[in-house]
Amino acid sequence: MLRPIASRISHSFSRDFRRFLASRAYTDPSNSNSPAVTTTPTNITVKQRNELDSALRIDQAGEIAANAIYHGQHFILGRDPVAGPLIKEMWEQEKKHIEVMDKLQVQHNIRPTILTPIARVAGFGLGAVTALMGKEAAMACTEAVETVIGEHYNDQLKEMESLPSDNPSVPLLREVVEEFRDDELEHLEIAVVNHAQRAPAHALLSSFIGAGCKIAIELCRRV
Ligand SMILES: [Fe+2]
Ligand SMILES: [Fe+2]
Repeated sequence: MLRPIASRISHSFSRDFRRFLASRAYTDPSNSNSPAVTTTPTNITVKQRNELDSALRIDQAGEIAANAIYHGQHFILGRDPVAGPLIKEMWEQEKKHIEVMDKLQVQHNIRPTILTPIARVAGFGLGAVTALMGKEAAMACTEAVETVIGEHYNDQLKEMESLPSDNPSVPLLREVVEEFRDDELEHLEIAVVNHAQRAPAHALLSSFIGAGCKIAIELCRRV
């Protein structure tokens, strides 16, 4: 039952994503042929601007780390007939997420976190180590990470309600965050359905990874 769901998500995502990009006219400031760039609204307070900076910095770092985690898991479990394709499908979605976040970071002139290289290495290490512990531990890692990231995107959506909607970048940001939150929650569901909770020391593993993700979010908010 899961495979058709995951497959449908994966196959429909690339088509929907292209449509989404076209309809929303994502722009590349480095491309002189690009249409008007949607930049951060100017009618927001300094506090709101700072919060938006932090939010997009965290999102970009989170998607980099997510890519690295799935890369690490796929490196170990890529040939597993069950886990391999599932991990690949989720990883493909994360690749799309980071493409969008990279564009938003440029459009809104956000400074990336200085922790980006650490996010890549730590993410890959986390993915590889949990995969070495077994398929269930890899899924427990996904469950813990996606729980925190899903909650983070959800909190961010609520914070964005205070931003003025008269600039096209704001509704666009809300749509991106909402769509990505739903994707992360799909990943969470896939992990649970694939026996994340049968992982050895599941509670301890989940607590450890979840706490690590929350610390990483707070660090990226600041640096
Ligand atoms: Fe993601
Ligand atoms: Fe995800």
